[in-house]
Amino acid sequence: MLQTVQKIMSSKKGVLALDWSPSTIEIQFKNVGITSTPQLNRVYRQMLVTTPELNEFISGIILHDETVNQQLDSGEGFVEYLGGLGIVSGVRADDGKSKYGDTQQDMTEGLDSLDDRLKKYAEVGIKFTKWRAAFKISDYYPSKEFLKESIDRLVTFAKISHKHGLVPFVEPDVEMKGDHTTTRCSEVTAQVLKLLFDALKEAGVDLENVILKTNMVLPGTESGVEAASLEVANATLYALRKSVPENVGGIVFLSGGQSYEDSVHHLDKIEDLARNDPWEISFSYARALQKDALEVWSGKEENIDEAQKVLIERIKKVVKARKGEL
Ligand code: 13P
Repeated sequence: MLQTVQKIMSSKKGVLALDWSPSTIEIQFKNVGITSTPQLNRVYRQMLVTTPELNEFISGIILHDETVNQQLDSGEGFVEYLGGLGIVSGVRADDGKSKYGDTQQDMTEGLDSLDDRLKKYAEVGIKFTKWRAAFKISDYYPSKEFLKESIDRLVTFAKISHKHGLVPFVEPDVEMKGDHTTTRCSEVTAQVLKLLFDALKEAGVDLENVILKTNMVLPGTESGVEAASLEVANATLYALRKSVPENVGGIVFLSGGQSYEDSVHHLDKIEDLARNDPWEISFSYARALQKDALEVWSGKEENIDEAQKVLIERIKKVVKARKGEL
């Protein structure tokens, strides 16, 4: 597992998240006027993973269950193909979400079948897993009971991943949606991370073999405030420094619905200010990296070259940011 962590956190690369659920990919495809089917999803993801030079900048890819057993046109499986490029394959291990009691919070599901599924994933060459737990901010949320249950599930997920030799990406995602301030996001993020790491330590989980995937600290999308990168970086590092142990395997940020430009510039500033912090910090973006490539492709074969060019350009720039070199 340590080798997997080191490979994923390689200082010149980052992680591409291609793990949209069938319902999410349906929405994303609809935005560009196409209809998602397992076959078209496969074609889309094939286009992304066959982008020239991808393995020079991408160390790991998070797949969805749908892709794990699919093949490229050549007949080669996705996991096998990525392995040949030296890219580590991971999988989204959670199974969606359900409404939590009589609240507007969504609880992540999928623990029941997790042990079996992870065993099978490990057998086909998957090396890491991801479990996203979303936390809504409002005057009342996240509620105490929700926090406890959600964090318990993340810890159980991490333990089961380790049982199968898989590196867990524990992903608490304090969401941007809402009218909250940056300060409130920082408080909630620090609280969630502290509870998470206390619980992981208490459960005896080896943190060196865990990667934290988390949100940047941002003002709510309906707050009317646009934060500067310096402010985002300071607030994010403030929350991390209060709550994240030194020996965690690495930290990767999600893009969380930020524009591509924001996600890149904020990351660059974070890296810049975190030079003396103990962690390796990188990215694991889905929307920020895929949005423009998907739009250019729009389901048409003749657009593949252009879409791949857009993707690799975006990736190269975010890798520069990951090195604090923008
Ligand atoms: P976004 O970068 O779109 O937030 O997605 C990251 C993610 O969690 C998918 O694994």
